[in-house]
Amino acid sequence: MFYFGVDYYPEQWPEERWPEDARLMAGAGFNVVRLAEFAWARLEPQAGRYDFDWLDRAIAILAGQGMRVVLGTPTASPPPWLMTGQPELFRVREDGRRVTYGNRREYCPNHPLYHDYTRGIVTSMATHYGAHPAVIGWQIDNEFGDRCYCPVCAHAFQQWLRSRYQSLDELNQQWGTMFWSHRYGDWAEIPVPLTTGGSPNPGLALDFYRFVSDSYVAYQQMQIDILRRHCPGHFITHNFMGFKYDRLNYYDLARNLDLVAWDNYQRMQWQMQAEVDPSQGALAADTMRGLKRQNFWVMEQQAGPGGWEIVSVPPRPGELRLWAYQSIAHGADAILFFRWRTARFGTEQYWHGLLDHDGRPSRRYEEIKRMGAEIKRAGGHIYGATVRPAVALLLSYDARFAFQIQQNNPQFYYPDHLHQLYRAFYQRHVPLDVAAPAADLSAYRLVLAPALHLVSETVADNLSRFVQAGGVLVLTSRSGVKDEANAVVNRPLPGLLAELSGVEVDEYVSLAAESRNGLEFLLPELATAHPPEATIWCDVLKPNGATVVARYTRDYYAGKPAITLNQFGQGKVVYIGTLGNGPIYETLAGWLLSLAGVRRLLAAAAGVEVTERWQGERRLLFVLNHGEREQEVTLDSRYVSLLDDAAGTAPVEGTVTVPPRDVLVLERV
Ligand code: GLA
Ligand code: ZN
Repeated sequence: MFYFGVDYYPEQWPEERWPEDARLMAGAGFNVVRLAEFAWARLEPQAGRYDFDWLDRAIAILAGQGMRVVLGTPTASPPPWLMTGQPELFRVREDGRRVTYGNRREYCPNHPLYHDYTRGIVTSMATHYGAHPAVIGWQIDNEFGDRCYCPVCAHAFQQWLRSRYQSLDELNQQWGTMFWSHRYGDWAEIPVPLTTGGSPNPGLALDFYRFVSDSYVAYQQMQIDILRRHCPGHFITHNFMGFKYDRLNYYDLARNLDLVAWDNYQRMQWQMQAEVDPSQGALAADTMRGLKRQNFWVMEQQAGPGGWEIVSVPPRPGELRLWAYQSIAHGADAILFFRWRTARFGTEQYWHGLLDHDGRPSRRYEEIKRMGAEIKRAGGHIYGATVRPAVALLLSYDARFAFQIQQNNPQFYYPDHLHQLYRAFYQRHVPLDVAAPAADLSAYRLVLAPALHLVSETVADNLSRFVQAGGVLVLTSRSGVKDEANAVVNRPLPGLLAELSGVEVDEYVSLAAESRNGLEFLLPELATAHPPEATIWCDVLKPNGATVVARYTRDYYAGKPAITLNQFGQGKVVYIGTLGNGPIYETLAGWLLSLAGVRRLLAAAAGVEVTERWQGERRLLFVLNHGEREQEVTLDSRYVSLLDDAAGTAPVEGTVTVPPRDVLVLERV
């Protein structure tokens, strides 16, 4: 069943109001609410004294209007009685300072006492609600994140290293601790990489980031184990933060959950840009689907202008609905809006919900109500339908962490690099999966592996198998540079990928912000009057079997290869030796697609997004017009619209019109 609903905080509003809220929710077509993820102070007003009466009453009222309930475990916002007088429970930041009380996410994920309190509240909620007929699932905590550098974590890090390396000799060897005399003679000597220690050993820093990520995974697992024991019929999830969040290995965090849920905001208070780039929401959704390679929930879909201290630009009429459909177009099987009513109090006073501060339904409510009626008709057709791209983009959290430690070039930002490559295909209406470097790649014809910085033997074998079998692999600069311990490899770059790509990096040139180099394309199909320029980074390549696709035109390496193409097994490897910017990938995308034999879904204008989902052999097509102007698209077959009511279900074919900020959800007939 397709769930459509909202995040609700009954504890923040007078009880007399709850029935009216539930009635309005039903009026919007909602059938699910998420509750209680910040209600610890009300659920456990004093240590060990639990109170579920109020939540039982709220759930009864909501269930009376047909709502199902997802409960949040409230561990992201500990109450004052728990934290006061226990400074060691608070996280220590990278600069060595402890956070203080007053926001949320203040806790250290490794503190045994915090674990005790967590077990207390989670066990009592789980036993109380394990058999409740309205409860269907759980969200653990809220948006895990933030690194802790406290003494408890420092000690746990040493234990973690002990089990990873077994011996200090091995650790010293892998990290290269003879550099600057860091040779450790005792596990207890190993520090955490506080900024006060200056630029750390890259091996130590990467392991610390991995350890922090593992700490949250373990903390989550503790809660999963309790919930599994007491609530066997419920699903368990966590609300992830899309593509942008970069402090946790999201593949690991997703592994033991039943499904991934995430929070989707296109206009945040911190970004006051007039225009939204819809490819960002698309990439975030594809990343979330990629974590488990399965459909996801959106636990928080934007419901209005966001705002803590600043009030964001408001979503224009139609945008909330359009963005919610964008989530669905990329694999959402449930959408919940954040939040129901705009808070009168607290840090998020200006984070707008579907109702305004005064409790009246806003124009945003009316827009979502329209969508609620559409979902009643279309939800059953969409639910469970899968996304099956032929192209994958590899996202590595090891690479992400490594580039946080050493950026390589001040203009280089790994997530932006991935986004630029992604966008070139998105604009051509080619759907992508986001996948882990060690994932099974046999379903793909084209795999993009941008700046795949750390390459293990396992990953190298995986990529090589993929190419051997006929796939097309695209590598960019800074790939294959490091081993798993974050040491630079002892062989020509791209290291373990050199044989596969038929090329070696003879020399690399990190460019100043204002510097550019020219590119000359040698393949006729890529010849263009205005070739894109090389920026940020230039690998000077030495082909070792590969053919030259483009060469540099200036400076001391003028004439040297910049981009190459190699035949390997049944497949091909393209090495793009400059990081460049968007235009390079826009120039190359069409050629790469034809090398791999991948076709776009539909021919449509840029600014129109096209995706598909498959319900068995039934094809669903989503056409989203993100622009201000009406657009025409030409369909490849006969379709029926799933959103229109019975009167509008006559099949459509040929050219159809999509109004501005509107969407078509079609099923092929
Ligand atoms: C996140 C959180 C919510 C809320 C919103 C808006 O996604 O999960 O609790 O804070 O952002 O700021
Ligand atoms: Zn800690």
